[in-house]
Amino acid sequence: MGIEPFTTGAAGPAGERVAERVSGRAGDITALRDFVAAVAALADRTRNDADAMARGARPLLHELVQQDGWLPDEFAQPHPTYYQQYLLYGDPLDRFSVVSFVWGPGQSTPVHDHTVWGWIGVLRGAEVETPYRLRDAGAASTGALVQVRPETVLRAGEVAGVSPASGDIHRVRNAFDDRVSVSIHLYGGNIGRIRRHVFDPASGERKPFVSGYANRYTPNLWPRDAG
Ligand SMILES: [Fe+2]
Repeated sequence: MGIEPFTTGAAGPAGERVAERVSGRAGDITALRDFVAAVAALADRTRNDADAMARGARPLLHELVQQDGWLPDEFAQPHPTYYQQYLLYGDPLDRFSVVSFVWGPGQSTPVHDHTVWGWIGVLRGAEVETPYRLRDAGAASTGALVQVRPETVLRAGEVAGVSPASGDIHRVRNAFDDRVSVSIHLYGGNIGRIRRHVFDPASGERKPFVSGYANRYTPNLWPRDAG
């Protein structure tokens, strides 16, 4: 897949179209609803072509995180100990999912992979990514992890990607020790249901895990006052 892991880029024509749709309405949840509708339409157009869907989705997420105020507070609440993953929308056909990641001060993920493409857009604050690869391809059970390049800082309004084809093992942490950061993630599957892995950085040992979500209910994209 032609996605560079955790690099940033500008919005394309599709993102500009979303900007037209949401202009003047920043601050209500219609920005999220329009985003979900655009991604669903993209999934219809690209059918089973994951590369095409990932390429088309990036400018849509980029546009979404250019404005704040649309994310309901209950999906932006940090936990005192653990970073939180709130499902904002799950496609009924598991073609994509939209998740808010909420980082308390200093919180960090374990080293993990994804097994599907994903885009990360920072809405508030900033986060730091440390990318890894297995030392010996095909020897996942015995090889130690190697950091493949320096840490990357992703700031509010920026988008970066992960892809199983070009590298999707990393650790992510809040860039701040004194404030909450929030990022919006779009994945090419239902990330909370997907069986993937966490890694011991020293030994390279990997263990399967399914991340799940912190919330029991998803946001209402059609509230009375949202137009
Ligand atoms: Fe990740």
